[in-house]
Amino acid sequence: MLIFAHRGASKAAPENTLQAMQYALQMGAHGIEIDVIQAAGQCWVIHDAWVQRTTNGQGRLDQMTEAQIRQLDAGNGQQVPTLFDVMALVGNRCLLNIELKGITDLAHFLKHLDSACETLNIGCQQLLLSSFDHPLLAKLAHLRPELTIGALTASCPLHYAAFAQELNAASVHTDIAFTNPEFVQDAKARGLKVYVYTVDEVQDMQRLKSWGVDGIFTNVPDRALAWLQQAD
Ligand code: G3P
Ligand code: MG
Repeated sequence: MLIFAHRGASKAAPENTLQAMQYALQMGAHGIEIDVIQAAGQCWVIHDAWVQRTTNGQGRLDQMTEAQIRQLDAGNGQQVPTLFDVMALVGNRCLLNIELKGITDLAHFLKHLDSACETLNIGCQQLLLSSFDHPLLAKLAHLRPELTIGALTASCPLHYAAFAQELNAASVHTDIAFTNPEFVQDAKARGLKVYVYTVDEVQDMQRLKSWGVDGIFTNVPDRALAWLQQAD
């Protein structure tokens, strides 16, 4: 089972900060999940369109200048990192799941991603691009068939994992609240991996593993990895 650090090791450090990525790497997470929003000509690693939950600032990210965003404190004196900052830190050390949250210009995002991969010598097999925005994923798959796609859902869709297969995704990422054995079976029969968010309790990890789930997103990768070691 793959253990993805959700927003980095976000229990140990402020979510989506370089410190959270560093902890996740130290803990030995197999992958790190981050959220990306475009604003002021950059790709920022942050979950919300509004900055006040995770930083000392106020207002919408896309109404701020780059200088204003760089001045924000995301906790523990950490800045809001750019996608490049995170890719530079993570490198090829584990998988990086980039969740596309606020992508308003896909071509611009891909230019950033390509240039980061080239500068940092990161292979696209290290990356997993996911989104709740399925038309965006369809465009991405069309433009870049070589990229690995994960299709997110926060529900149990009528035709189970059919939507993810239609998107040519490699994996389907499901909310634990709506994940059941039938869905997992359906996804696996379609050749999809199933990764579930957000799983912090060992009892849930055990149940999901028994259903054949391939990976989890967790705020506590240290706990999940310790559990996995004795479960295997
Ligand atoms: O990518 C899995 C999970 O992060 C999706 O939901 O709201 O935590 O980004 P959210
Ligand atoms: Mg996310």
